[in-house]
Amino acid sequence: MQSVTFTILRYDPAGGGEPRYQDFQVNITKPGMMVLDGLNQIRWEQDGTLAYRRSCREGVCGSDGVNVNGANMLTCVTHIEEVARKGRVVIQPLPGLPLIKDLVVDLEDFLRKYFTVKPYLITRAPAPDKERLQSPAERRRLDGLYECILCACCSSSCPSYWADPEYLGPSALLNVWRFIDDSRDEGAQERLDILDDHHGAWRCHTILNCVEACPKGLNPTKAITGIKTALLKRKF
Ligand code: FES
Repeated sequence: MQSVTFTILRYDPAGGGEPRYQDFQVNITKPGMMVLDGLNQIRWEQDGTLAYRRSCREGVCGSDGVNVNGANMLTCVTHIEEVARKGRVVIQPLPGLPLIKDLVVDLEDFLRKYFTVKPYLITRAPAPDKERLQSPAERRRLDGLYECILCACCSSSCPSYWADPEYLGPSALLNVWRFIDDSRDEGAQERLDILDDHHGAWRCHTILNCVEACPKGLNPTKAITGIKTALLKRKF
């Protein structure tokens, strides 16, 4: 593979135009090039106005979620050769989120929902002299939950999230379960009050797009099932 065509959605509200697709040729200059390498090549060598987010290049910061060939993923950990189909890669912004420019979406509402669920330890007992201890088994319960990098790939892949602007979404729900299920936390009841709502956990219809989209291999649907179970136990 000598080169690949990147078909990228372009949108510049300052220019007053409608969104459109633009083709760029990306030269494959080394083995293992990532989609982010291709975007950088375009921006640095062909069109400095192309807008996209990136920071760590290691799949850690979560800033570079986009839609590639119809699936949400991180550009920095996605090999071009994995996604090129007949020499072409179609790249669009994350769906269901307000578009700012090119591949950059507005994450303000997504993050507002994250903070709504109080994503921090709530404790009432006096602080111990040292740390609040957990058993190894209690700590292991947080595996698969604490690794979320808030890239928004899951929420933006969810039809329920697109349909209901107030739905908290899989990312916020996974993150709230990370604290409800934490043996040191004492804020479960106030969190469950927030979640027991048709914009909360009950909006999830187990479509599972979030599981497919998560670049860290997490399972928001399983976390949401935990929340629903806790809500039902509280009720009955
Ligand atoms: Fe940080 Fe991709 S650039 S996760």
